[in-house]
Amino acid sequence: MSPPLFRRCEAAATLTLVVSLLVAVVAGEAVAQDTADYFRANCKACHTIGGGPLSGPDLKDVTERKDREWLIRFMRDPKAVIDSGDEYAQKIWKDSREVYMPALPGVAERGEELLNLIEAESKLEQSQFKGLPVSDRPFTDEDRKKGRQIFLGTQRLEAGGAACISCHSMHDTPTLGGGRLVPEKSDLTQVFGQPEHRDRKAFSNWLADPPSPNMKAAFRDHRLTADEVHALVAYFEDASKRGTAAQPVVARIAFLLSGLAGAVVLIFSFDAIWKRRFHAVRRPLVDANATRGH
Ligand code: HEC
Ligand code: HEC
Repeated sequence: MSPPLFRRCEAAATLTLVVSLLVAVVAGEAVAQDTADYFRANCKACHTIGGGPLSGPDLKDVTERKDREWLIRFMRDPKAVIDSGDEYAQKIWKDSREVYMPALPGVAERGEELLNLIEAESKLEQSQFKGLPVSDRPFTDEDRKKGRQIFLGTQRLEAGGAACISCHSMHDTPTLGGGRLVPEKSDLTQVFGQPEHRDRKAFSNWLADPPSPNMKAAFRDHRLTADEVHALVAYFEDASKRGTAAQPVVARIAFLLSGLAGAVVLIFSFDAIWKRRFHAVRRPLVDANATRGH
């Protein structure tokens, strides 16, 4: 065996080893990154890791509370496990104001990876999933006004998302009928304070990365900025204290028309009254002039 050939073989083997190691590392990182992205898009709206509860429990150290097998079974079909009467599931469900965690597509294949991610993030001082910092600065009229403009689309969304009005209505907006995709979620007047959107923190985190299918599709690539979320929450909070749902456009037009009809009647009657008064004043003048011989 000639040494150069041997060395060439050795070099090739080393190269193969290095390449395959690199591939493994890159692939591992890709999985981790992919899982983090998946968590951001599907879980972060309802869960923090170390930032306190939102509409779902804080997931910090969840793998110490329950074993992996149970957690994966739960995540695949939360409602089935809760409704089966499982004691632990019943408890976290009651603590979450009886909001059912949705069964999310893709969870089944990623169960282990998601738990690895949650476990790793739980060990960090500051997880990247600590949740949106939500100020408790009181809302101002300015905030509420801006929120309404964003809702109506008179103020454009910075990342270019569609205006809320194209699919939703509020007590002080017309309904355009665009939100018929999910009719019961079309009017949002009373949404703030409902169990899934129970307070400022939960609602802000939900809006920042909405997990429901249509909202996700509409905003995944056009995320709302922290300022936009702040203004919208101000508007929604105020609406929930004031209004009932918006009336359909037809009802509003009918109302407007009845108003118009009223106005027309009024104009005619003023006219009649005015004419009578005019005659009442003019007649004697004319008569007086006539007697003076003009
Ligand atoms: C719409 C809100 C919502 C979304 C989105 C959501 N969850 Fe949940 N999750 C909940 C709620 C609420 C509970 C408490 C049980 C219940 O009421 O269903 C829960 C419970 C859990 C639990 C058990 C927590 C504990 O303390 O034992 C885990 C684990 C979990 N969720 C993981 C996830 C993961 C991973 C995702 C993303 C793939 C996700 N959840 C998406 C609302 C949500
Ligand atoms: C393309 C249509 C569309 C647009 C634009 C849209 N939404 Fe939605 N939204 C929906 C649909 C459909 C649902 C029902 C859940 C789902 O399928 O995602 C929904 C659900 C919601 C919910 C949850 C309602 C509930 O009862 O839990 C909130 C809150 C919400 N949208 C806020 C907004 C805000 C704020 C904007 C504007 C920044 C907006 N949406 C823009 C279609 C839209």
